[in-house]
Amino acid sequence: MESDRPVDGASPEPTYETVDVSVLVIGAGAAGARAAIELVQQGVDPEDVLVIGKRGHGDAHTTWARGGINGALGTQDPEDDWTIHAADTLKEGHFLNDPGKVETVTQRMPRLLRELDDWGMAFSRTADGDIDQRYFGAQSFRRTAFAGDYTGESLLKTLVAKAQSLSIPYRENVFISRVLTEDGRALGAVGVDLDTGDFLAFRADTAVLAAGGYTSLYDRHSSQDDENTGDGPALAYEAGARLMDMEFVQFHPTGMVGDRYGEEWDGRLVTEAVRGDGGRLYNSEGERFMERYSPDQMELDARDVVARAIDREVREGRGTENGGVYLDISHREREYIEERLPRMYERFADLGVDMATEPVEVAPTAHYGMGGVVVDEHSETDVDGLYAIGETMAGVHGANRLGGNSLAETIAFGEAAGEAIADRLAGEDRPAVGDDQFHRLARHHLADLTTLAGSDGSEDPEVLFDELRGLMGAHAGILRDGEGLVEGLAELEALRERAGDLAVGDPTSRSFEFALNLGFALTVTEAVLRGAAERAESRGAHYRTDHPETDDGWRRNIVIERDSVGGMHLSTTAVGSPSQAVQTALDAGYELNYHQLE
Ligand code: FUM
Repeated sequence: MESDRPVDGASPEPTYETVDVSVLVIGAGAAGARAAIELVQQGVDPEDVLVIGKRGHGDAHTTWARGGINGALGTQDPEDDWTIHAADTLKEGHFLNDPGKVETVTQRMPRLLRELDDWGMAFSRTADGDIDQRYFGAQSFRRTAFAGDYTGESLLKTLVAKAQSLSIPYRENVFISRVLTEDGRALGAVGVDLDTGDFLAFRADTAVLAAGGYTSLYDRHSSQDDENTGDGPALAYEAGARLMDMEFVQFHPTGMVGDRYGEEWDGRLVTEAVRGDGGRLYNSEGERFMERYSPDQMELDARDVVARAIDREVREGRGTENGGVYLDISHREREYIEERLPRMYERFADLGVDMATEPVEVAPTAHYGMGGVVVDEHSETDVDGLYAIGETMAGVHGANRLGGNSLAETIAFGEAAGEAIADRLAGEDRPAVGDDQFHRLARHHLADLTTLAGSDGSEDPEVLFDELRGLMGAHAGILRDGEGLVEGLAELEALRERAGDLAVGDPTSRSFEFALNLGFALTVTEAVLRGAAERAESRGAHYRTDHPETDDGWRRNIVIERDSVGGMHLSTTAVGSPSQAVQTALDAGYELNYHQLE
């Protein structure tokens, strides 16, 4: 690593530290950690890898994933296998998933769960000591492995410990603002150290975007406020990659209801494991309303079905006065709840609610973006040397994701990308990233950041960001329609104009970070609204009240790329076919039998 103060070039002249590395992993959650681990396991020198986290070490969106991680181990239901897992994933993705990517995840996961177990992950156990597996929505068998209801926390802890044992370097509290590219090739990235305000330029032959999704662009969302704000897809798009399926946003049926539990908890996840372990939903009239919407799969139908059912109960006046419904697991023994759902039990106890004797209040919350960056089977984007994994990539989940498949995807594609990049490094020599070229690009972008810091306009970036969240909730929520989406796009244009006149503090300030977030958010919001306006049908998580039916002609992915004048160009592509093995599982027609739970 060297320090570098270039003196020529555009004014204002940015000062920055240059860091040289072979593979820059942008994102320190499960996907980024697993990719870095794989690189080193494949023989790459750890000093050639650097993992960048936007927050402190071990603080990543992964920790908010609670109920489990899927893999057809069959420890509870031996008839399960990876082909049935793939079939469930395709069916609930309404056949918009890339079948090859689904197979990458489902085929690898049984082995990868065993590996995590060997690495010390604190999986909950069956009576005979094997990895336990619980029911999760719309899955034919119990295949969601779990660590109580803190699976994401336990997973990340395991991966960080493994990365440390391999001496993989991490750098925390760094906000990456641009991936540098020229002639369709990635050359590294630039950003800012949020603690010191220093600008940083990372020269890297290969960059991996593992920077999460975009659901914090909604007013009610399940993640922390300052993560999942669209960095991954926006960085890739601005670097020249394409986006896909952005209109598909998953609303988790059960988020905490802020008016009851306080603003800081609004939208935070009440894990699906509560329903997987028997929790029942009731409206304010005491009716177990899922009997009307889904008599076979009840509370464990797919998330889009359950979320729309709750939304409808509330809209039709059968919700609680806080705008939610009741989720009740009090028919289970206290010891069972404490053992299977310890974090939920403690959190609600701290808020004065005893889950063993009373229900909690819940309502849908934006939870996961099925869309993301177009990648090939190795997770490489259209930009040479730029990879995208985890929630940043598109393809695995189609129109609706199965709970427990997000953590699975982080691990499976973390491994797959790590393998591919290790091969790439061991393969043909590519021309080194030249000094002049790299510093010219870095200076250009960092000069913009220098101008941004201390801008004395009249708009507060945080206020604009909040308005954008309101816009997404109002126009691209659980229910959408063509008119509302067009209005949303017009409101977005007005916000974009105001975003040209920001009041921004220095690079350590909250307003500086929000100004960067806002830039990403404007791009991603436009992609979501445009995709949703284009898709004139309802499918999975995308429900158009003006087109309530699924249209077979729309069994295509919407792809978004930047056109020659900087606008968004939309096109569609056909979806592939599953392998014969998975088709056989599909033809067999497996599905969850909810009533086994009762
Ligand atoms: O409800 C949950 O625990 C969430 C899991 C997931 O989204 O995969």
